[in-house]
Amino acid sequence: QQMAIGIDIGGTNTVFGIVDHRGEINYRGAITTNKHEKIEDYIEELYQAILPSLNQFGSDKLVRGIGIGAPNGNYYSGEIEYAPNLRWPGKIPLVKLIQERFNLPSALTNDANAAAVGEMTYGAAKGMKDFIMITLGTGVGSGIVVNGEMVYGHDGFAGELGHTIIIPGGRKHWSTGFEGSLEAYASATGVRLTAIELLEKDKNKPSLLRHYDLDEIDSRLVYDCAIQGDEIAIETYRFTGDVLGKALANFVMFSSPEAIILFGGLCNAGNFIFQPAKRSMEANLLPIYRNKVQIMPSELKESDAAVLGASALVWELK
Ligand code: BGC
Ligand code: NA
Repeated sequence: QQMAIGIDIGGTNTVFGIVDHRGEINYRGAITTNKHEKIEDYIEELYQAILPSLNQFGSDKLVRGIGIGAPNGNYYSGEIEYAPNLRWPGKIPLVKLIQERFNLPSALTNDANAAAVGEMTYGAAKGMKDFIMITLGTGVGSGIVVNGEMVYGHDGFAGELGHTIIIPGGRKHWSTGFEGSLEAYASATGVRLTAIELLEKDKNKPSLLRHYDLDEIDSRLVYDCAIQGDEIAIETYRFTGDVLGKALANFVMFSSPEAIILFGGLCNAGNFIFQPAKRSMEANLLPIYRNKVQIMPSELKESDAAVLGASALVWELK
């Protein structure tokens, strides 16, 4: 039986799986993404992490190729280009480097596009022709599917929705310098910054978050505090959801999707983020769109959507 390797490169972790034709993940693993200064060292660590699983299958001849989803990955060029949340600057010829190290045919796409393909093939978007996948993690990305097909655009970079400006003159992005882009709010870093801002704005308001150093505050901790009823933590996700909802309304009016599927770490916050996002999306839509577009979480657990979608690229390789 033929297998494909699917790799999802995230701003924090890189997750991989060995996937069969039916979309069963037979082996999973992960490494840290931004640890190595040189991309070659990162690829070497990835190779060493995947190698045992290749050996486990007896012969690497069974593995037909490698599909990769990466931030700012370009399907046409096989390169990652100027990724705001990766430590390697400029253009990275990822497909070339991976092919050389693994000696297997490889293909690259944007990580959010990979998640969209995974969801369309195996998850919540099965049978949907028009939907938008939004990934909310270290970065914010999107995969836009129109009339059953992924939109790549002229240069292959369609769908960088995380970098669209939602609050003009708003928070400055740590890497792009843009003011008020969606990613500056609806990413893990965005949540962290919002929580810190709220703590500083109302210095007398008690909060569980005050028991921690500022550099310990992350989206996970804010969620843990929100479940315990902490008002600043709840307000952090409410505000994040509100900004996200405004952005979603823009995206809905742009392409009229059937659904918006949310994926990535921030989805763990569940209704702390989903409810305000839904409310603010609806409030910012023209009546013709209202109460029609579902917002739903990915149906595939953890990072599987992107790993599966990336692996699916392999079956198209010649
Ligand atoms: C990148 C996108 C990516 C997203 C999620 C953004 O910063 O520009 O290409 O899909 O992060 O990783
Ligand atoms: Na995309």
